[in-house]
Amino acid sequence: MNAIKWNKDSVIILDQRRLPLDEVYNTYRNYYDIVNSIKEMEIRGAPAIGIAAAMGIALAAKSIRENNINDFRADMNEICGLFASARPTANNLFWAIKRMKKIINSVKDINEMRKMLENEAVKMYSEDIETNKKIGRNGSRFLSDGDIVMTHCNAGSLATAGYGTALGVIRAAIEEGKKIEVFACETRPYLQGARLTAWELQKDKIPVTLITDNMSGHFMKEGVIRKVIVGADRIASNGDTANKIGTYMHSVAAKTNNIPFYVAAPLSTIDTSLASGEGIDIEERSIDEVVYIRSEQIAPEGISVRHPAFDVTPAEFISAIITEKGVIENPAGKGVKELF
Ligand code: MRU
Repeated sequence: MNAIKWNKDSVIILDQRRLPLDEVYNTYRNYYDIVNSIKEMEIRGAPAIGIAAAMGIALAAKSIRENNINDFRADMNEICGLFASARPTANNLFWAIKRMKKIINSVKDINEMRKMLENEAVKMYSEDIETNKKIGRNGSRFLSDGDIVMTHCNAGSLATAGYGTALGVIRAAIEEGKKIEVFACETRPYLQGARLTAWELQKDKIPVTLITDNMSGHFMKEGVIRKVIVGADRIASNGDTANKIGTYMHSVAAKTNNIPFYVAAPLSTIDTSLASGEGIDIEERSIDEVVYIRSEQIAPEGISVRHPAFDVTPAEFISAIITEKGVIENPAGKGVKELF
C-alpha cells in the first residue's frame, strides 16, 4: 500500500482517517488541499507529511501563473509557510520544506524551477524508502528469533513512503528469517495503532496482537513483551525523542522492567538546533479527538480535556537510536552528534 503517490499533475493520498474500514484514495490537484490533508491527518507520520509537503509545493509551482521570478518566489515562499504551519512537531516536515526552499530561492528560471521542484519531491519519496530499508538493516540485529515486540502509534508504510521506520526494523528482521510477533498499542486518542498498525501488519501477514495502551506495563512485567520499538517525530541533539503521546509512559515501564526500548528514525527527524527535548514544540490537537470516537461522544458535555499529541522520552530511557547512517547505543550523555 502507498500512503502517498506523485502522479504528474496530482498527488494521490490514502485517506488514513477512514482506515481500517475503507481504503479510499483521494486525488488532489491543488496545494491547499494537501495543506488540509496534513492538518486533518488524512496523511500523517513524520516522514509522510514531509513528502506530502514537498509534493504539495511542487504542485503549487505548476499552478502559479506568474512570469516575474521575484513575484513567483514570493508566492512560493508564502506557500511554504502555509505547509510549515500545518503541524508543529515532526521535524521531517520542516526538513522537507527547507529542501524545497533551497531550490525556490536559488533557481532563476521559473520553468526550470517547476521541473526541479517536481524532481526533488519525487526523489524525496524514493530516498525515503531506501532510507527505511537501511534503518531496517541497521536495526534488525536487535530483534531475536521468537521475540514479541511492542510498538506504539504507526511508524510503518503508512507513516512513510513505504516499509516504515520502527515497522521497517521488524520487517527486516522477518526478512532475515526471524519469527517476530508484534503487540500494537491502540494509541489513544487517534487510534493509529488500532486503525493503522494493526491494519498494515495484518495486510502483510505479520502476526499482530492489539492491546490498549494501559496494558503495556502488565505484559512487560509478565515477560510477554520482550522489546519495544517506536518511531520518532523529532529527536534533539542529546537524544531526547518526541513521539506519539503515550510513548514516554511505555519507556518508563520498559526501563523498570529491563526491557530494551528502541527508537528508529531517519536523520531528517533529528533537529540539531535543539540541545534537548525541552525545546520541542508539542502539538495540542482538538479536544474532540478525545471526546469523540468517530462520531460517538464518549465523555460528558462541557468536560475539561487536554490533548497533547506527543510526549518526550528522555535519552536515558532509550537503549538505541537506529538511523540509516548508523546506530547510537545508549544515547544518554553523548547524544546523536556522531551521526553528523
Ligand atoms: O500524529 P501522527 O500520527 O502524525 O504521529 C505519528 C507518530 O507519532 C509516529 O510514531 C512518528 O511520526 C514516526 S512515523 C515513522
